[in-house]
Amino acid sequence: MSEQSISFEPAIGHDAPRAARADRYDRARAAIDSLLDGEDDWIAAMATVVCELSHAFEHFHWTGFYRAVSDRLLVVGPYQGTHGCLRIDFARGVCGAAARTRQTQLVPDVEAFPGHIACASSTKSEIVVPVLTPYGRVLAVLDVDSNHPAAFDELDREKLESLCAMLGARFGPGRFGGHDVARV
Ligand code: SME
Repeated sequence: MSEQSISFEPAIGHDAPRAARADRYDRARAAIDSLLDGEDDWIAAMATVVCELSHAFEHFHWTGFYRAVSDRLLVVGPYQGTHGCLRIDFARGVCGAAARTRQTQLVPDVEAFPGHIACASSTKSEIVVPVLTPYGRVLAVLDVDSNHPAAFDELDREKLESLCAMLGARFGPGRFGGHDVARV
């Protein structure tokens, strides 16, 4: 890890112009890439990502990871926000749907999502992106919840999917003991 001092710029909101949000994502990503340079600890990586994202965007009211501890169970990992559910079955909620389908779930209205788990009643919208290993195994999901309705769009999908692809490639094989075999 590089020994550097990071000074956070003021966070921006979901109603900021697209270009400003894209720029903030790129700055957060540059900070993450720099901080994770040479780092091989997955928990340190998740904590760093959560910190950078939650300080970049004021509408990221809950930002965190759920780790896949088996082929059907997610357990909460590093996060910032009020307390989250500790365990989520792949069959339940938005996080479970992301893990089960291995597809990003972009939910503008959580009330309209069948089976949404309301860890915080203030949550109005969310995006959940799976972190996949190079062979497509689910390492974790990145969950971002907002108290604003429809707070996330295709830009969030693009930037967070790029980030999670990097994380899956970097940290996925280690999770499976160096043997990241095809999902069965
Ligand atoms: N809303 C999520 C549950 C996790 S928390 O809100 C932190 C879901 O339905 O999967």
